[in-house]
Amino acid sequence: VTEPRLSAVLYGGGRLCENVARILEGRPSVELLGVFRRDGRERALRLGADVVLVATTSFLSAVADDIRLAVESGSNVITSAEEAAFPWAVDETLADELDGLARERGVTILGGGLNPGFSFDALVLTACGATWDVESIRVGRVVWLGGFSASILRRLGIGYSADEFAAGAATGAISGHIGFPQSMRIVAQKLGVRIERIERQIVPTLTPSPIELESMPVAAGTSGGFEQHYTAFVDGSPWFEALFTGHVDLAAIGASPRDEIRIVGASPVHLVLDPGLGSQAGSAAVVANSLRRVAAAPPGWLTVADLPPAVPL
Ligand SMILES: NC(=O)c1ccc[n+]([C@@H]2O[C@H](COP(=O)([O-])OP(=O)(O)OC[C@H]3O[C@@H](n4cnc5c(N)ncnc54)[C@H](OP(=O)(O)O)[C@@H]3O)[C@@H](O)[C@H]2O)c1
Repeated sequence: VTEPRLSAVLYGGGRLCENVARILEGRPSVELLGVFRRDGRERALRLGADVVLVATTSFLSAVADDIRLAVESGSNVITSAEEAAFPWAVDETLADELDGLARERGVTILGGGLNPGFSFDALVLTACGATWDVESIRVGRVVWLGGFSASILRRLGIGYSADEFAAGAATGAISGHIGFPQSMRIVAQKLGVRIERIERQIVPTLTPSPIELESMPVAAGTSGGFEQHYTAFVDGSPWFEALFTGHVDLAAIGASPRDEIRIVGASPVHLVLDPGLGSQAGSAAVVANSLRRVAAAPPGWLTVADLPPAVPL
């Protein structure tokens, strides 16, 4: 059975759009109508493509107007904004409003890429399929960050002294990887579990030697990476732990990319991906491989837990 050809627009014009475009250009089942930057916003979002990718920032408030315009123009929307993977964790009113608008217009909104969107949620749920009576979940990722743009690296927490890092983390200017609460809530909602609270910690990894990257230099004595540890509590006990080691030069800290999922349940599950999933290629793949499942999904704002797996179609 031949699936109908889908039209797609990529809005943002950064690294993710570039990588998704490369995949779609080799995919005859998709007609890529264009990759647009800020100056092409109106055109991109009003074109009425079957699916619009909004890949600009990480924050729900910053992508909401773009999503609204694309939905009003009759497009399904995928956004890579991490907060949008489970928007109710950030702003319930706004999430409900856009969910209602999507239902009214008969289109679907999905927030997702590799993380959130796959490693800490969709893959975890798949792994839960091989056990039952899940007691706790522990997911760890070691990720090479060197492929991101300077603005993303600065927001993540790269290139700061220890004091600057502490100050930036306190104000939120440094966020580390965003999206753990979203992934945790996606998994919890699907498993019918209520998370009471989420504890978070982020610690910089200072580099003793300078590191030259394509996008920015990292001076000696500043952060070449960071360690994040998020814990979601259920009934007073840790239920979902997420550990993230990100660095722009993993070899310098004796690490290599790796993904690991441990599920304590009736039958233990221990999944190791070695080498771990590449953040750039993996994110582009999940997005490109989600066009069709989003176009075929029921209307409303969905999460990856509502959809079949992303497949390269
Ligand atoms: N869920 C996931 O797994 C996943 C995966 C990859 C990326 N992401 C997220 O998706 C976003 C895009 O990633 P990327 O790697 O493509 O980043 P990037 O290389 O920094 O590109 C971002 C692009 O968006 C533009 N932009 C930024 N803010 C904008 C705004 N408010 N309105 C319009 N355009 C705006 C930038 O333009 P200027 O250069 O003019 O600022 C740039 O062209 C990031 O927030 C990233 O964290 C999530």
